[in-house]
Amino acid sequence: MAVFSDLEIGAGNRGFAASFLTDPVVTDADPTKVLWDLDVKCRGERLPFESGSFALVIINNPYGYGFHAKDNTDALLQEVRRVLGDSGRLEVLGATANRHSRLTDVRRYAAQNGFVEINTVFGQDAIKQKFPGHTFYTTELVPTSPNFWIEFRA
Ligand SMILES: C[S@@+](CC[C@H](N)C(=O)[O-])C[C@H]1O[C@@H](n2cnc3c(N)ncnc32)[C@H](O)[C@@H]1O
Repeated sequence: MAVFSDLEIGAGNRGFAASFLTDPVVTDADPTKVLWDLDVKCRGERLPFESGSFALVIINNPYGYGFHAKDNTDALLQEVRRVLGDSGRLEVLGATANRHSRLTDVRRYAAQNGFVEINTVFGQDAIKQKFPGHTFYTTELVPTSPNFWIEFRA
């Protein structure tokens, strides 16, 4: 089985993966925007990869999916768990004001799906320092500023 290193879900453009991920597979549900340069078009809730293909999955600034409706969130996190190998990790970047990534919902749904929080960075300035020089975008391509990053063990 091919074992890749990192999978980015809802990637938008390729800038984050190019700067911060190792051998990334870059995916998004919508490949139509001019900034998008994807490896695979797919929804996070249905990942076209073999089980155990990745060491790290990152859910990057979700909108239109993510930690909102329970059925959708459970499907997403179960797919993430499936494609992660043993000792795999999930990272979630988000903004607490975004209904798809409220911090309490991210923690609650992750725990319900068996993920264990191992690291957290909180605050817009801290996120800017962790990912220097990177511009995150809304789905409408407006620059935006996530304010937390959480690392979970699967
Ligand atoms: C707020 S944008 C974030 C883009 C990029 N990660 C960033 O921070 O610059 C949310 C992205 O999620 C994608 N998306 C929406 N529904 C999705 C789904 N079900 N699975 C994967 N990606 C999805 C959208 O197409 C969009 O590119």
